[in-house]
Amino acid sequence: MKMIIIFYITFACNFLGNVISHANPLSYESIFNFGDSISDTGNAATYYHPSMDENSPYGSTYFKHPSGRVSNGRLIIDFLAQAYGLPMLPAYLNLTQGQDIKHGVNFAFAGATVLDIDYFIQKKLNPPSTNISLTVQLDWFKKLKPSLCKNKQECDNYFKNSLFLVGEIGGNDINALILSYNNIAELREIVPLIVETIINVTTELIKEGAVEIAVPGNFPIGCNSAVLTIMNSDNKDDYDQFGCLAAYNIFIKYYNWRLNQAIETLRQKNSHVKIIYFDYYSDTKRLFEAPQQYGFYFGKNDTFKACCGKGGPYNVDIHIFCGSSKATVCSDPSKHINWDGAHLTEAAYRLIAMGIVEGPFASPSLKSPVFKIA
Ligand SMILES: *[C@@H]1O[C@H](CO)[C@@H](O)[C@H](O)[C@H]1NC(C)=O
Ligand SMILES: *[C@@H]1O[C@H](CO)[C@@H](O)[C@H](O)[C@H]1NC(C)=O
Ligand SMILES: *[C@@H]1O[C@H](CO)[C@@H](O)[C@H](O)[C@H]1NC(C)=O
Ligand SMILES: *[C@@H]1O[C@H](CO)[C@@H](O)[C@H](O)[C@H]1NC(C)=O
Repeated sequence: MKMIIIFYITFACNFLGNVISHANPLSYESIFNFGDSISDTGNAATYYHPSMDENSPYGSTYFKHPSGRVSNGRLIIDFLAQAYGLPMLPAYLNLTQGQDIKHGVNFAFAGATVLDIDYFIQKKLNPPSTNISLTVQLDWFKKLKPSLCKNKQECDNYFKNSLFLVGEIGGNDINALILSYNNIAELREIVPLIVETIINVTTELIKEGAVEIAVPGNFPIGCNSAVLTIMNSDNKDDYDQFGCLAAYNIFIKYYNWRLNQAIETLRQKNSHVKIIYFDYYSDTKRLFEAPQQYGFYFGKNDTFKACCGKGGPYNVDIHIFCGSSKATVCSDPSKHINWDGAHLTEAAYRLIAMGIVEGPFASPSLKSPVFKIA
């Protein structure tokens, strides 16, 4: 809380002339990201524990120390930034006075939901771990905007070369609801409200000047090691041929289908805006379907085994977290898709990012990257 207040007071900079004169219409000059732990590059870490445990295995592969990311290395958003020759996005809550933010800022917060926490409290549902909803992140952006550009003309000019990412977000709403209902069929009732909120926030960003916006769908949670552990079933028929829980993936397909329909309506209302859908579902599912093709361990159990965790068929114990003294870290994270039960490894995120930047999982496609994803 203190962090946030200090930050608002101290922010003031003037770099816009620079942005406009160097703008390259063929690429992105800046990225603004909204989301949850899939793309948080340090907001939750700044909020909860600004002095990070240097022995934590998080960040160990790429950064060699905890970097505020919920993985062993880079996230999809980091690979995207690198592909467009941009610095990795600084976390909004970790910005310092005078910091250069012309290439974008990240508002994503681990644990964030689409719906405000009041919704969960009113319905007496399992509350999410944080009250930093998508709407709160939008408010953060609005507060920051005067330090990015000063008037409509300046902002329009600046945002012409900006990519906005709204999501992935919604995964934590779904998690909270799964734990509350324990019934996948009931979950469908909540989808329209989640989708409408994502669309409303996207509409707000368009009003603020965004003209290129990516809205990712959700992941195949039926293949997620944490979900496989918690929802473990004795009935073989509950699993698809690859070892994923079929009902959960069917639910996500439904969710993504509703999101896609709403995106299409939004496109029709805003013909001047390019709205891109990221198919994270297919982009990720292919890894579980042919792990050997991508250099991951194969064989049902190994494909789904978390690199960092403890015990059980998936190396996940919901009471023993990655980073705690009882958990172990695998010797070669690059052979694992799953990092800590709920989140994926850098190796998986790299492939997913390639599928987005190089195709075919972004439609319509993004601008051409400046660098190949390495
Ligand atoms: C905050 O930023 C500093 C440098 O700008 C960086 O060293 C640190 O790792 C960041 N912290 C988090 C939690 O992202
Ligand atoms: C979130 O909760 C904290 C306390 O837990 C509170 O101080 C803060 O004002 C809340 N933020 C929002 C946006 O509701
Ligand atoms: C979305 O925006 C519309 C139009 O402003 C409003 O009527 C509706 O209540 C909003 N929906 C949600 C879920 O916020
Ligand atoms: C693989 O997982 C199944 C079911 O989850 C379990 O019965 C079996 O013992 C596991 N095999 C190994 C080698 O861990």
